[in-house]
Amino acid sequence: VALDGLNTFGLPGRAAQYADIDSVAGLQALLRTPAWQQAGRRLVLGGGSNLVLSGDFPGLVLKVALRGRRLVGEDEDAWLVEAAAGENWHEFVCWTLEQGWPGLENLALIPGTVGAAPVQNIGAYGLEMAERFEALRAVDLGSGELREFRAADCAFGYRDSVFRRTPGRWLIVAVTFRLPRQWAPRLGYAELARELQAAGAATPTPRQVADAVVAIRRRKLPDPAVIGNAGSFFKNPLVSEARFEELARHWPDLPHYRQAGGGYKLAAGWLIERCGWKGRDLGPVGCFERQALVLVNRGGARGADVARAAAAIRADVLARFGVELEAEPVFV
Ligand code: EPU
Repeated sequence: VALDGLNTFGLPGRAAQYADIDSVAGLQALLRTPAWQQAGRRLVLGGGSNLVLSGDFPGLVLKVALRGRRLVGEDEDAWLVEAAAGENWHEFVCWTLEQGWPGLENLALIPGTVGAAPVQNIGAYGLEMAERFEALRAVDLGSGELREFRAADCAFGYRDSVFRRTPGRWLIVAVTFRLPRQWAPRLGYAELARELQAAGAATPTPRQVADAVVAIRRRKLPDPAVIGNAGSFFKNPLVSEARFEELARHWPDLPHYRQAGGGYKLAAGWLIERCGWKGRDLGPVGCFERQALVLVNRGGARGADVARAAAAIRADVLARFGVELEAEPVFV
């Protein structure tokens, strides 16, 4: 099966074996077959929006196609809403807002599926998914057992979780979110607050917050349906207080975010732009002209071209700032 259309970067590659997973029972049955035992490597694929495919995949690709979403409970504080892993993330966010359940609006328009959201602990505009997370169910691909994970079991971090650190171990089948009855807009991200001010929504509704997030994203980020990309290509790096102060002496306008646990998060996009990469291409891979943190496929790029461009950018940022960038997408 060709994987070109199944990764948003549009990188070429074929899977030796491929299965659509549309029920938990079907998955568990597959895990008992000889084909599974012989498959060797396996790759769990959601929307393919956080993936760099280096070429053909010699094992079995499991494409998560589980569908469904529903209210599973409520208490004094919140609605508990569950979605199957194969649901499109943005459509799910819009549906919760239509139902009158706010809380995910800052995460509107993030590409990918519900099942991929906890793997990366997706975040944007002042909110991380972990803050709205209640629980998830995942199948252990070793034993076939279905297990429930609470937040503490997931070890969520910045674009990180236990699932991200053990690829191929678990297949997430459904995620439950805790959406607050006492809702207040999350406006800590200055650009979002400005956007809402400009729209005349000083005390915005959840839908207005979502619309503002969508407007900002459309302005800055390439639409993967139009130009291949995997969102932010690098994580924003964390540096110590001492390192930050040294850098800030040389670069007084260095964007920085103080971290609760100490140290500072820097803006990788800013570092990359200062190295002259914004809008520049290396072969068929471009550093996006409106947001340097995003690498794009100018047409015909292969995984090796992406790896080469990423390595060149990392080397330049390291040489100039002494800061190591870490890739955000998963390399397969
Ligand atoms: N900046 C530049 N040049 C650039 C890009 C950014 O100078 O080319 C500066 C901006 O001016 C700003 C700072 O860097 O001062 C931060 O930029 P921005 O607000 O665009 O956000 P980001 O830190 O680059 C992160 C996430 C995005 C998320 C936005 C909004 C990561 C790796 N990326 O980007 O997430 O949408 O914040 O919250 O944390 C993703 O993960 O795929 C993603 C798009």
